[in-house]
Amino acid sequence: MRAIIAGTDIVKAFGLGEERTKALAGVDVAIGAGEFVAVMGPSGSGKSTLLFALSGLDTVTSGSVRFDGVELSELNEKQLADTRRTKMGFVFQQPTMLKNLNLLDNIILPAAQDRRKTDALVAEARALMEKTGIAGLEARAVTEVSGGQLQRAGICRALMNKPPVLFADEPTGALDSKSAEEILNLLVEINRDGTAILLVTHDAKVAARADRVLFTKDGRLVSDLPLGFSDGADLAAREEKVFARMADVGL
Ligand SMILES: Nc1ncnc2c1ncn2[C@@H]1O[C@H](COP(=O)(O)OP(=O)(O)OP(=O)(O)O)[C@@H](O)[C@H]1O
Ligand SMILES: [Mg+2]
Repeated sequence: MRAIIAGTDIVKAFGLGEERTKALAGVDVAIGAGEFVAVMGPSGSGKSTLLFALSGLDTVTSGSVRFDGVELSELNEKQLADTRRTKMGFVFQQPTMLKNLNLLDNIILPAAQDRRKTDALVAEARALMEKTGIAGLEARAVTEVSGGQLQRAGICRALMNKPPVLFADEPTGALDSKSAEEILNLLVEINRDGTAILLVTHDAKVAARADRVLFTKDGRLVSDLPLGFSDGADLAAREEKVFARMADVGL
Protein backbone atom coordinates (compact mmCIF):
# COMPACT_ATOMS: atom_id res chain seq x y z
CA MET A 1 0.00 0.00 0.00
CA ARG A 2 1.34 3.43 -0.91
CA ALA A 3 1.99 5.57 2.20
CA ILE A 4 0.04 8.83 2.12
CA ILE A 5 1.78 9.89 5.35
CA ALA A 6 5.24 8.79 6.45
CA GLY A 7 6.72 10.04 9.70
CA THR A 8 10.32 9.19 10.64
CA ASP A 9 11.82 9.66 14.11
CA ILE A 10 9.43 12.48 14.97
CA VAL A 11 10.34 14.38 18.11
CA LYS A 12 8.17 17.17 19.50
CA ALA A 13 9.41 18.96 22.60
CA PHE A 14 7.58 21.65 24.53
CA GLY A 15 9.14 24.12 26.96
CA LEU A 16 12.73 24.91 27.84
CA GLY A 17 15.37 23.70 30.30
CA GLU A 18 14.04 21.83 33.32
CA GLU A 19 10.48 22.22 32.03
CA ARG A 20 11.25 20.61 28.68
CA THR A 21 9.01 17.63 27.92
CA LYS A 22 8.95 15.44 24.85
CA ALA A 23 5.34 15.01 23.78
CA LEU A 24 6.71 12.84 20.95
CA ALA A 25 9.95 11.03 21.68
CA GLY A 26 10.90 9.48 18.33
CA VAL A 27 7.91 8.17 16.41
CA ASP A 28 8.06 6.21 13.17
CA VAL A 29 4.70 5.80 11.50
CA ALA A 30 3.26 5.20 8.05
CA ILE A 31 -0.37 5.58 7.06
CA GLY A 32 -1.40 3.94 3.82
CA ALA A 33 -3.55 5.65 1.21
CA GLY A 34 -7.15 4.82 2.07
CA GLU A 35 -6.25 3.20 5.36
CA PHE A 36 -8.33 3.67 8.55
CA VAL A 37 -6.02 3.92 11.56
CA ALA A 38 -7.10 4.51 15.15
CA VAL A 39 -4.81 5.89 17.85
CA MET A 40 -5.32 4.98 21.49
CA GLY A 41 -3.31 5.81 24.60
CA PRO A 42 -3.49 7.41 28.03
CA SER A 43 -4.19 11.10 28.44
CA GLY A 44 -1.00 13.07 27.79
CA SER A 45 0.67 10.25 25.83
CA GLY A 46 0.98 12.33 22.65
CA LYS A 47 -2.05 11.37 20.55
CA SER A 48 -3.14 14.90 19.67
CA THR A 49 0.46 16.02 19.26
CA LEU A 50 0.95 13.20 16.75
CA LEU A 51 -2.08 14.31 14.75
CA PHE A 52 -0.85 17.89 14.75
CA ALA A 53 2.63 16.81 13.66
CA LEU A 54 1.42 14.56 10.83
CA SER A 55 -0.91 17.25 9.49
CA GLY A 56 1.53 20.14 9.78
CA LEU A 57 -0.85 21.94 12.15
CA ASP A 58 2.23 22.17 14.34
CA THR A 59 5.94 21.98 13.52
CA VAL A 60 8.12 19.14 14.80
CA THR A 61 11.33 19.59 16.80
CA SER A 62 13.17 17.02 14.69
CA GLY A 63 12.43 14.17 12.32
CA SER A 64 10.61 14.01 9.04
CA VAL A 65 6.95 14.12 8.03
CA ARG A 66 6.20 13.38 4.40
CA PHE A 67 2.62 13.96 3.34
CA ASP A 68 1.70 12.66 -0.11
CA GLY A 69 5.40 12.62 -0.96
CA VAL A 70 6.11 16.17 0.23
CA GLU A 71 8.25 17.04 3.26
CA LEU A 72 5.94 19.31 5.27
CA SER A 73 8.75 21.30 6.88
CA GLU A 74 9.91 22.42 3.43
CA LEU A 75 6.61 24.11 2.61
CA ASN A 76 6.12 27.80 3.26
CA GLU A 77 3.04 29.00 5.10
CA LYS A 78 0.98 29.50 1.94
CA GLN A 79 1.90 26.10 0.50
CA LEU A 80 1.08 24.47 3.82
CA ALA A 81 -2.29 26.21 4.00
CA ASP A 82 -3.06 25.11 0.42
CA THR A 83 -2.04 21.54 1.22
CA ARG A 84 -4.31 21.52 4.24
CA ARG A 85 -7.23 23.04 2.36
CA THR A 86 -7.04 20.59 -0.54
CA LYS A 87 -5.60 17.40 0.95
CA MET A 88 -6.58 17.26 4.63
CA GLY A 89 -9.77 17.38 6.61
CA PHE A 90 -9.96 17.92 10.36
CA VAL A 91 -12.66 16.88 12.80
CA PHE A 92 -12.36 17.60 16.51
CA GLN A 93 -14.53 16.83 19.52
CA GLN A 94 -16.65 19.89 18.84
CA PRO A 95 -16.44 21.86 15.63
CA THR A 96 -15.56 25.53 15.95
CA MET A 97 -17.98 27.41 13.75
CA LEU A 98 -18.46 31.10 13.00
CA LYS A 99 -21.63 32.25 14.75
CA ASN A 100 -22.40 34.99 12.22
CA LEU A 101 -22.51 32.53 9.32
CA ASN A 102 -25.17 29.92 8.59
CA LEU A 103 -24.36 26.22 8.43
CA LEU A 104 -23.83 26.12 4.66
CA ASP A 105 -21.37 29.02 4.66
CA ASN A 106 -19.52 27.55 7.61
CA ILE A 107 -19.05 24.37 5.59
CA ILE A 108 -17.95 26.16 2.44
CA LEU A 109 -15.71 29.01 3.47
CA PRO A 110 -12.63 27.20 4.81
CA ALA A 111 -12.52 25.25 1.53
CA ALA A 112 -12.83 28.33 -0.65
CA GLN A 113 -9.70 29.76 -2.17
CA ASP A 114 -9.48 33.48 -1.26
CA ARG A 115 -12.88 32.97 0.41
CA ARG A 116 -14.64 32.93 -2.98
CA LYS A 117 -17.91 31.03 -2.71
CA THR A 118 -18.36 29.38 -6.09
CA ASP A 119 -21.38 27.47 -7.41
CA ALA A 120 -19.25 24.32 -7.49
CA LEU A 121 -18.45 24.65 -3.79
CA VAL A 122 -22.11 25.25 -2.93
CA ALA A 123 -23.08 22.13 -4.90
CA GLU A 124 -20.37 20.10 -3.18
CA ALA A 125 -21.46 21.28 0.28
CA ARG A 126 -25.11 20.50 -0.45
CA ALA A 127 -24.19 17.00 -1.63
CA LEU A 128 -22.19 16.39 1.55
CA MET A 129 -25.05 17.67 3.72
CA GLU A 130 -27.34 15.28 1.92
CA LYS A 131 -24.91 12.39 2.46
CA THR A 132 -24.47 13.14 6.16
CA GLY A 133 -28.18 13.55 6.82
CA ILE A 134 -28.39 17.30 7.44
CA ALA A 135 -29.93 18.44 4.14
CA GLY A 136 -32.43 21.20 4.80
CA LEU A 137 -30.36 22.85 7.54
CA GLU A 138 -28.33 25.02 5.13
CA ALA A 139 -29.71 28.36 6.34
CA ARG A 140 -29.78 27.40 10.02
CA ALA A 141 -27.66 29.36 12.51
CA VAL A 142 -24.95 27.20 14.10
CA THR A 143 -26.50 27.87 17.51
CA GLU A 144 -29.80 26.36 16.32
CA VAL A 145 -28.73 22.80 15.60
CA SER A 146 -28.07 19.81 17.86
CA GLY A 147 -24.61 18.58 18.83
CA GLY A 148 -24.90 15.63 16.47
CA GLN A 149 -26.01 17.86 13.59
CA LEU A 150 -23.17 20.27 14.29
CA GLN A 151 -20.67 17.41 14.21
CA ARG A 152 -22.13 16.27 10.87
CA ALA A 153 -21.64 19.80 9.57
CA GLY A 154 -18.08 19.66 10.88
CA ILE A 155 -17.54 16.47 8.91
CA CYS A 156 -18.99 18.08 5.77
CA ARG A 157 -16.60 20.99 6.24
CA ALA A 158 -13.69 18.56 6.63
CA LEU A 159 -14.63 16.65 3.46
CA MET A 160 -14.88 19.63 1.13
CA ASN A 161 -12.38 19.37 -1.76
CA LYS A 162 -12.36 15.57 -1.25
CA PRO A 163 -9.19 15.34 0.87
CA PRO A 164 -7.26 12.03 0.71
CA VAL A 165 -6.83 12.18 4.50
CA LEU A 166 -9.21 12.93 7.34
CA PHE A 167 -7.73 13.62 10.79
CA ALA A 168 -10.18 13.13 13.64
CA ASP A 169 -9.43 13.79 17.33
CA GLU A 170 -12.13 12.26 19.57
CA PRO A 171 -14.87 13.05 17.00
CA THR A 172 -17.53 11.22 19.00
CA GLY A 173 -16.29 12.25 22.45
CA ALA A 174 -18.92 14.93 23.04
CA LEU A 175 -21.90 13.03 21.65
CA ASP A 176 -24.53 10.75 23.19
CA SER A 177 -24.12 7.08 22.29
CA LYS A 178 -26.69 7.10 19.47
CA SER A 179 -25.22 10.17 17.72
CA ALA A 180 -21.73 8.77 18.31
CA GLU A 181 -22.69 5.51 16.62
CA GLU A 182 -24.16 7.38 13.64
CA ILE A 183 -21.07 9.56 13.26
CA LEU A 184 -18.87 6.48 13.48
CA ASN A 185 -20.88 4.72 10.76
CA LEU A 186 -20.51 7.84 8.65
CA LEU A 187 -16.72 7.80 9.10
CA VAL A 188 -16.60 4.13 8.10
CA GLU A 189 -18.58 4.96 4.95
CA ILE A 190 -16.26 7.87 4.16
CA ASN A 191 -13.31 5.52 4.51
CA ARG A 192 -14.96 2.97 2.18
CA ASP A 193 -15.20 5.79 -0.35
CA GLY A 194 -11.39 5.99 -0.28
CA THR A 195 -10.47 8.62 2.31
CA ALA A 196 -7.71 7.60 4.73
CA ILE A 197 -8.66 8.29 8.34
CA LEU A 198 -6.39 8.85 11.33
CA LEU A 199 -8.65 8.86 14.36
CA VAL A 200 -7.83 9.37 18.04
CA THR A 201 -10.19 7.66 20.45
CA HIS A 202 -10.48 6.39 24.03
CA ASP A 203 -13.29 4.05 23.00
CA ALA A 204 -12.51 0.42 22.07
CA LYS A 205 -15.80 0.22 20.17
CA VAL A 206 -14.65 3.07 17.94
CA ALA A 207 -11.13 1.70 17.49
CA ALA A 208 -12.58 -1.72 16.55
CA ARG A 209 -13.90 -0.24 13.31
CA ALA A 210 -10.39 0.72 12.11
CA ASP A 211 -8.07 -1.39 9.92
CA ARG A 212 -5.29 -0.92 12.48
CA VAL A 213 -4.90 0.48 15.98
CA LEU A 214 -1.76 2.29 17.17
CA PHE A 215 -1.05 2.65 20.89
CA THR A 216 0.89 5.59 22.33
CA LYS A 217 2.64 5.83 25.67
CA ASP A 218 4.98 8.58 26.88
CA GLY A 219 5.36 10.00 23.40
CA ARG A 220 6.17 6.69 21.74
CA LEU A 221 4.26 4.15 19.67
CA VAL A 222 4.31 1.03 21.82
CA SER A 223 2.01 -1.25 19.86
CA ASP A 224 0.47 -1.68 16.43
CA LEU A 225 -2.60 -3.94 16.19
CA PRO A 226 -3.73 -4.94 12.69
CA LEU A 227 -7.44 -5.72 12.50
CA GLY A 228 -7.86 -5.84 8.73
CA PHE A 229 -10.97 -5.09 6.78
CA SER A 230 -14.28 -5.34 8.61
CA ASP A 231 -17.54 -6.25 6.93
CA GLY A 232 -19.40 -5.35 10.13
CA ALA A 233 -20.17 -8.96 11.04
CA ASP A 234 -17.23 -9.51 13.34
CA LEU A 235 -17.35 -6.37 15.45
CA ALA A 236 -17.50 -8.14 18.81
CA ALA A 237 -14.40 -10.18 17.99
CA ARG A 238 -12.54 -7.06 16.84
CA GLU A 239 -13.50 -5.25 20.01
CA GLU A 240 -12.17 -8.19 22.05
CA LYS A 241 -8.83 -7.89 20.24
CA VAL A 242 -8.69 -4.17 21.03
CA PHE A 243 -9.49 -4.78 24.72
CA ALA A 244 -6.86 -7.53 24.91
CA ARG A 245 -4.18 -5.28 23.43
CA MET A 246 -5.25 -2.40 25.70
CA ALA A 247 -4.63 -4.71 28.66
CA ASP A 248 -1.25 -5.77 27.21
CA VAL A 249 -0.04 -2.18 27.01
CA GLY A 250 -1.52 -1.26 30.39
CA LEU A 251 -4.30 0.97 29.11
N1 LIG B 1 1.27 23.45 23.69
C1 LIG B 1 1.83 22.68 24.64
N2 LIG B 1 2.72 23.21 25.52
C2 LIG B 1 3.32 22.42 26.45
N3 LIG B 1 3.08 21.11 26.59
C3 LIG B 1 2.20 20.55 25.75
C4 LIG B 1 1.52 21.30 24.75
N4 LIG B 1 0.70 20.45 24.08
C5 LIG B 1 0.84 19.25 24.65
N5 LIG B 1 1.74 19.29 25.65
C6 LIG B 1 2.18 18.16 26.48
O1 LIG B 1 2.55 17.09 25.63
C7 LIG B 1 2.10 15.84 26.13
C8 LIG B 1 1.21 15.16 25.11
O2 LIG B 1 0.01 15.91 24.96
P1 LIG B 1 -1.17 15.51 23.97
O3 LIG B 1 -2.12 16.64 23.95
O4 LIG B 1 -0.59 15.07 22.69
O5 LIG B 1 -1.79 14.26 24.73
P2 LIG B 1 -3.04 13.35 24.34
O6 LIG B 1 -2.54 11.96 24.24
O7 LIG B 1 -3.74 13.92 23.17
O8 LIG B 1 -3.95 13.48 25.64
P3 LIG B 1 -5.57 13.55 25.80
O9 LIG B 1 -6.06 12.14 25.70
O10 LIG B 1 -5.74 14.10 27.19
O11 LIG B 1 -6.11 14.45 24.75
C9 LIG B 1 1.43 16.15 27.46
O12 LIG B 1 2.35 15.94 28.49
C10 LIG B 1 1.05 17.61 27.33
O13 LIG B 1 1.02 18.22 28.60
MG1 LIG C 1 -5.62 14.85 22.90
